[in-house]
Amino acid sequence: MKHSVITGGAGFIGSHLAEALLARGDHVTALDDESTGTPDNLSAAAAHFNFRYVKGSVTDRELIRRLTATADEIYHLAATVGVSLLAEHPVQTLENNVAATGVLLEEIRREQARERRIKFFFASSHEVYGKNPRPEWSEDDDLCFGPTEMMRWSYGAAKAIGEFLTLAYRREHGLPTVIGRIFNVVGPRQSGAFGTALPRFVEAALAGGPLIVHDDGLQVRCFAHVADVVRAILLLMDSDRAEGGVFNVGSDEPIAILDLAKKVVALVNPQATIQFRSFNEVYPPDMEDCRRCVPDISRLRNTVGYFPRYGLDEILREVSAWKHGQI
Ligand SMILES: NC(=O)c1ccc[n+]([C@@H]2O[C@H](COP(=O)([O-])OP(=O)(O)OC[C@H]3O[C@@H](n4cnc5c(N)ncnc54)[C@H](O)[C@@H]3O)[C@@H](O)[C@H]2O)c1
Repeated sequence: MKHSVITGGAGFIGSHLAEALLARGDHVTALDDESTGTPDNLSAAAAHFNFRYVKGSVTDRELIRRLTATADEIYHLAATVGVSLLAEHPVQTLENNVAATGVLLEEIRREQARERRIKFFFASSHEVYGKNPRPEWSEDDDLCFGPTEMMRWSYGAAKAIGEFLTLAYRREHGLPTVIGRIFNVVGPRQSGAFGTALPRFVEAALAGGPLIVHDDGLQVRCFAHVADVVRAILLLMDSDRAEGGVFNVGSDEPIAILDLAKKVVALVNPQATIQFRSFNEVYPPDMEDCRRCVPDISRLRNTVGYFPRYGLDEILREVSAWKHGQI
């Protein structure tokens, strides 16, 4: 039986991943410092006898050493996520997204030196593409960041360093690694508190509105259901062909943010209004919005046969039902 460790296991994606790994029969340890996640997300997993929760940080090397001593797979999802957290805590964001990844990789290397092979998944982000002007982003595209004075780009740059570190440990020490560049993920348990558009819109519509759309609302995104993303991660980790690779993970069904807001109004509360506010009224001037963020997922599809199962309407119905139950 495999022992799988999830960092950021009490977070949105991590908690769904924990349930999927338990369902396939793994022993699962979820590690989380509860900076944005909560053990409440793990109530279903916690009922399982193969599950263990550890409160702590990935930056705690002693703790990571104890966990890697018995791990077969590590899913590194812990990160400081989202534009609003980045604006408030840029140091924590950088430390978490760079130093923590280095600690994990070094401890996995130590285990490998003792003949123990641990497979490593790094949850990267579409943010590594920066403001790439291409209509669809492919894994071998150039990374296009703005200047360092614009703190916004530090998040994508930190994730890119995480990717470089992962690939460097693979090249120099032969570690078995997979990198998933995750695009916008949505679903039950996602909080709107840190700026993510879809849960924020659903919460606003349920509360009677208004839904706040930044700038002209013509920014384009693709929203993947968390169950699809978890399935993609498991397919990648189970595939020998995917080892050592970098993969876009997400939906390739684009929608403008204003159209998303209109869909949420129609589905959740037709009385709710939509208001426009400039991005820089909401965020500091060194934050910059991204106009278009659409993945080319052909590499993922061709390598592991992945197709998304959930469309946007189904996702919206599920998220609003879940939020409704919460209120
Ligand atoms: N949700 C998305 O749309 C999206 C998009 C792109 C990439 N990602 C990536 O997927 C991963 C998971 O994202 P999420 O949406 O589940 O976010 P989340 O904030 O719900 O989960 C992150 C979890 O990591 C924990 N954490 C943060 N720092 C930690 C540390 N040092 N030690 C232990 N735990 C720590 C937080 O408490 C939280 O539970 C992240 O790496 C994120 O960058 C997510």
